[in-house]
Amino acid sequence: MSQFPEVSGPAAPAVHRKSATSHGFYPPAPNPLSPVVSLMRLIWQGDGDLLSLLPREAYAMPIGPLGYSRRQIVIVNDPRLFRPILADTDERFPKSDLMVDALRPLVGNSIFVSGGADWQRQRRMIDPAFTHMRIQDAFGAMQAGVDAFEQVLLDRAQRNESFPLDVAMSHLTADIICRTVFSTSLEGEISRRVFEAFTRFESSIAQVRWKTLIFDPAWTQVPPTADVLAACNEIRTCLGSLLDTHFQPRETPWNDIASEMIAAVDPVDGVGFTRDELLDQLGVMFLAGHETTASALTWAFYIISQHPEVARRIRQEVQEVCGSDTPRFEHIRGLTYTRNVFRETLRLYPPITFLPRVSAENTSIDGYKIKRGAMVMISPWTIHRNPAYWPDPHRFDPDRFDPAQESNQVAGAYLPFGLGPRVCVGAAFAATEASLILARLCTRFDFETSTESRIRPIARMTTRPNQQINARARVHHVHQ
Ligand code: HEM
Repeated sequence: MSQFPEVSGPAAPAVHRKSATSHGFYPPAPNPLSPVVSLMRLIWQGDGDLLSLLPREAYAMPIGPLGYSRRQIVIVNDPRLFRPILADTDERFPKSDLMVDALRPLVGNSIFVSGGADWQRQRRMIDPAFTHMRIQDAFGAMQAGVDAFEQVLLDRAQRNESFPLDVAMSHLTADIICRTVFSTSLEGEISRRVFEAFTRFESSIAQVRWKTLIFDPAWTQVPPTADVLAACNEIRTCLGSLLDTHFQPRETPWNDIASEMIAAVDPVDGVGFTRDELLDQLGVMFLAGHETTASALTWAFYIISQHPEVARRIRQEVQEVCGSDTPRFEHIRGLTYTRNVFRETLRLYPPITFLPRVSAENTSIDGYKIKRGAMVMISPWTIHRNPAYWPDPHRFDPDRFDPAQESNQVAGAYLPFGLGPRVCVGAAFAATEASLILARLCTRFDFETSTESRIRPIARMTTRPNQQINARARVHHVHQ
């Protein structure tokens, strides 16, 4: 595992543990304002944080307007109303033009952005790479990634050094993606270049798009900037080199996601992916497969550091389920509380904040008029914090997902992985990976975090803290 940077500057200030009360634990929550002030805040901050666009009203209304913009923007919060939108596979509500344009230089016309027959073919070919059996095969590579990460944390702990939590989580999940997709690690020169170019890509695309969303008409083409193009070319060249290793003959066949994709054929016409198509799909796996999980784990470890009772319960569960073994694939199912910590983190901080669609025609939803070209936002963020669906919604309570309580959940009101035919293909992969990481790291370490000022979630490509969180890991000592 590569060394992620340590925190520069003065020693981290005292640990903040403000939000645990006798009524439960309340991690950072949104602070919505009126529509005008929300818009002003977005423009004023200029950091592309789309959560700033959400006024107070946007959290509770079943359907309604979002802010002031040249193009109509509608938010749909009621599961009865958004289910048919998410069930559509392209005709009436394709994926947002803005999002597709932004991602296209990196991922071409691949599964995340394509529609209609193209998407159906790709989905048929990619689904088999994420079955239960394939995840079991990938588990060894996940464990190897966690082994390497533990070693880095151990070094940090021994030197009493702090590190930026979100950067560390991105390294960990990118390393696991490299291992599971290409059988290489982030230590490799090429994977490291992909990771660095990806970070540049992410910071470049976020800035431009919110201005187009607010000020331009629908389907305005925004050409990618030179920075974005350079980053994408670098990523695709590197992914190409990693892919090409898989075409060379060798004694032991590859057993990873890339080799699955190479071997995939469409059951309908028997045709496989071309090399360019493979590059597009692997770009998506890298994009969708590591930043999302990194975002969720950043929040999970932040919460754990502020509310150590969560780590205590995870440790206890690991002890009960795994005994003195390190968690194996067959243990993961039994780690119910650990998985529920991940699920509850995804509820409060869904990494993909909005599932944006465009209305291809003038239409109406439940009597509400939608113009052709309107941006239709379905937001796991607002839906997961709506008190009509979630009692005491801002409270962190993994036990909501206990089988006994889970049956009270409103159908469709939990959608961190999307819903319907375009639901995330990597959901089970991510849940296995995150459960393993939480179980392993909480057993081995205690975490502390500190920040200069109050942490606020912001939505860029994924839901992130507005500032760097400095973390410290200390080796956990078992008290007999
Ligand atoms: C915590 C982790 C993750 C979260 C929260 C997440 C979330 C999502 C969401 C919300 C969608 C649907 C987007 C929409 O409908 O507009 C999606 C789609 C997708 N995700 Fe994930 N994802 C995660 C991990 C992964 C992983 C690990 C992979 C692969 C290795 C992956 C690959 C994909 C792909 C390929 C799609 C497109 C599916 C389609 O359109 O048919 N995701 N993800």
